[in-house]
Amino acid sequence: MRRAIWFGLLVAVTLMGHAWGAAGGENARVAASHMDASNRSGHARGAAAADARILVSLPPMMQEHMLANMRDHLEALNAILEALGMRKFGEAARIAEERLGMSSLSRHGARMMAPHMPEGMRAIGTEMHRAASRFALAARNAEVAPVGDQLAKTATALQAVTSACVACHSAYRIR
Ligand code: HEC
Repeated sequence: MRRAIWFGLLVAVTLMGHAWGAAGGENARVAASHMDASNRSGHARGAAAADARILVSLPPMMQEHMLANMRDHLEALNAILEALGMRKFGEAARIAEERLGMSSLSRHGARMMAPHMPEGMRAIGTEMHRAASRFALAARNAEVAPVGDQLAKTATALQAVTSACVACHSAYRIR
């Protein structure tokens, strides 16, 4: 008899749990469809809310200059990969040093740009230039390295450069 009561209680609690769960599920569905609707009606707002990058305001001319630099960075990266694919390590090193490395600072007007950047952004920029110069060294070493080591050595060094691209892009925007 007692066992029957306990069993009844257990069933009741279980059923209540199900009912509660179903209600919770329904709430979740309502919330989800609400979010869906607000995303549809305000896509831009949704995108802006998801964009946590810090806005760095630059004078218009400098903004142009920076974006032009950026396009050159990507072209340089492309040319480096092309050279690596053809095992022209010296060529890859030269492009990296001249267009992305420490030797590229004056070409990119770094002295003019730096004071307009927050400290963190400047630090990532400096790290990118350093990494590019390190890559240039790695590529020159790869020229005389055993063939089996060439890819790993150069790819890892180049990835240190692209890591700086990624770090800055995910933290800052200028528009
Ligand atoms: C110190 C910060 C920083 C570093 C390092 C950096 N970028 Fe950028 N890049 C930016 C910012 C800021 C923008 C503009 C984003 C925005 O507001 O739209 C940008 C934009 C760009 C653009 C778009 C240009 C255009 O005309 O719209 C390209 C392409 C680009 N970066 C490539 C690169 C590549 C490739 C690297 C690495 C080799 C790199 N960037 C490294 C900060 C950086």
